[in-house]
Amino acid sequence: MEENRIITSHLREGEGEADRSIRPLSFNEYVGQKQVKSNIEVFINAAKRRGEALDHALLYGPPGLGKTTLANIIANELGVHIRITSGPAIERPGDLASIISGLEPNDVLFIDEIHRLPRAVEEVLYPAMEDFCIDIIIGKGPGARTMRLNLPPFTLIGATTRSGMLSAPLRDRFGMIFRLEYYNEQELLQIVKRSAGCLRIEVDDEGALEVCRRSRGTPRIANRLLRRLRDYAEVDGSGIITKNIAEAGLQQLGIDPLGLDITDRKVMEALLVKFSGGPVGLDTIAASISESPDTIEDVCEPYLLQLGFVQRTPRGRCGTLEAYRYFAYPIPPNLAVNSAVAQVSIFGDE
Ligand SMILES: Nc1ncnc2c1ncn2[C@@H]1O[C@H](COP(=O)(O)OP(=O)(O)OP(=O)(O)O)[C@@H](O)[C@H]1O
Ligand SMILES: [Mg+2]
Repeated sequence: MEENRIITSHLREGEGEADRSIRPLSFNEYVGQKQVKSNIEVFINAAKRRGEALDHALLYGPPGLGKTTLANIIANELGVHIRITSGPAIERPGDLASIISGLEPNDVLFIDEIHRLPRAVEEVLYPAMEDFCIDIIIGKGPGARTMRLNLPPFTLIGATTRSGMLSAPLRDRFGMIFRLEYYNEQELLQIVKRSAGCLRIEVDDEGALEVCRRSRGTPRIANRLLRRLRDYAEVDGSGIITKNIAEAGLQQLGIDPLGLDITDRKVMEALLVKFSGGPVGLDTIAASISESPDTIEDVCEPYLLQLGFVQRTPRGRCGTLEAYRYFAYPIPPNLAVNSAVAQVSIFGDE
């Protein structure tokens, strides 16, 4: 199912090539995330002036917002190499030791999905981050001894979609923690126009705007929709992505005006209709629509929360009045009463 979706948490097969040609390489090309950018730039300049490694940084936020891109830019701006790996790929402490000891001083080590590092690896990462050394155990049983290995100073950049799943000791060892935000329409417009230029895709202003509106604030999705719509535009004959082409194409792709796809709609239908608006656990929703809880938590839920369609409560997820209105399902009596009260109080304020 995930394979055919437009809205996924990762690169899809065959996308690598196009992705490389449009991925920003410097802060100048990296649109939006102003606060994060200006903070990091200050720290980069300071580290360069002192000739030291940049402090360790944790980047978190929903998939496709530019964490990997930002890590690459940081290394570029520092003028150092970047070594890219991921939490699940580092199976044993020895793997980590050999990766880090292969770095040159002040290099960047990027660990994607850092929340999935094995426990034993995480424990050797602590002293590596703090004191640039690793204790490794040589031999087994009574004859075993530990040896301290000094490492070159390095910058760890961790990326995760789930900052909540990171252990507190690991979180505490990052000097900088940045949350990437969804992009607004203007920022996405800049990204779409830039990508269209790089890929020689013709798109007019209204067509581009339509793509942005349905990209759920996510550059990866905007770029993906742009490439898909090129095909529609070529079949249509003009070759230009106009508002009409964009609307028709996106409808065929099953992307609604808010950027929701079939899986989002299934989640909302389950929550609003099957479970009468909740509260209901995320795993229960996932099981009821045969979708993986991870996909729902990483990809669907953050955007549905952002839209105000879902609320997280201690007892589970709840659907909101806005959601009932948008999907035009009958509003349950308890929500209807609350909304009547809300309207009265607004009226009373005037
Ligand atoms: N600020 C930005 N400006 C322009 N393009 C961007 C920006 N952020 C991301 N992109 C584009 O979106 C694509 C996806 O970004 P990236 O791979 O860095 O996301 P990610 O946060 O690492 O996602 P994941 O959590 O799935 O690993 C990039 O290839 C890039 O082309
Ligand atoms: Mg990434």
